Amino acid sequence: NKSEHYSAQVRPPGTSRQIPQTIIIGVRKGGTRALLEMLDIHPNIVVAATEVHFFDWDENYVKGIDWYRSLMPFSYGNQITIEKTPGYFTSPQAPERIHDMNSSIKLLLILRDPTERVVSDYTQVYYNRVESHKPVQLFEDIVIKNGALNTKYKAIQRSLYDVHMEKWLKLFNLDQIHIVDGNTLIKDPLPELQKVEKFLNLPSRIMSSNFYFNQTKGFYCIRSDGRERCLHESKGRPHPVVNNTVLEQLYSYFREHNAKFYRMVNHSFDWH
Ligand code: A3P
Repeated sequence: NKSEHYSAQVRPPGTSRQIPQTIIIGVRKGGTRALLEMLDIHPNIVVAATEVHFFDWDENYVKGIDWYRSLMPFSYGNQITIEKTPGYFTSPQAPERIHDMNSSIKLLLILRDPTERVVSDYTQVYYNRVESHKPVQLFEDIVIKNGALNTKYKAIQRSLYDVHMEKWLKLFNLDQIHIVDGNTLIKDPLPELQKVEKFLNLPSRIMSSNFYFNQTKGFYCIRSDGRERCLHESKGRPHPVVNNTVLEQLYSYFREHNAKFYRMVNHSFDWH
């Protein structure tokens, strides 16, 4: 049982902490937590429990690689260590810093429809602000400024996948970066996870019996090691209903960027 090892303070015999051989680099709100938790089902995978922010936050990066390693769980020689920090994908420093650490590393990137991602990003910030009693704005009031699309809005910038991907492809080969379709992972997780097992050269161990659809949550939950669990309630919250004209403006803004991204990665997605 892997989860016993995480909570143990003492090192189980034959294990050590390893620098990740694979990193989930993003994108924020793409489904990064679901991907990490679902990969954790695999007996040959161990995952870092929290977001590490080593390569994107200077105050952590200066602490050095041994600090980074110390945050990883104990693992056996036949296990791959994975961490996820969604901020890496859009960070200006992360590509070079990760490349300096391991230029042949395998990267996982989970993406979803860029407009849907903006709404999800807004929804997360909305709830965070409500919980800390801060004022909130309507989605439409943030996204439209003086009648035009507010392209400076951070959530919109983060959905410019082509702009961010360009920086990664300057340093890494396309075959080092596996893109997970976040829209598919929601609807039917197993096939997406089997592609990741192949990419990581792992035997196929994740099975359909590891998932069950929870009607109340409206999402798949995980059955593993004799336990059933859904993701935290902050994952899969209802989105606001967005004005159709505003949605159309977002779709048309992202259309060219998406087309460029498809060419870059040699793969099409069925985004708006
Ligand atoms: P929403 O909360 O907007 O629906 P991240 O972990 O990167 O922040 O991504 C969060 C998103 O993961 C959620 O966005 C949700 O749509 C998606 N997701 C994918 N599979 C899920 C699952 N099985 N349970 C809950 N959320 C899931």
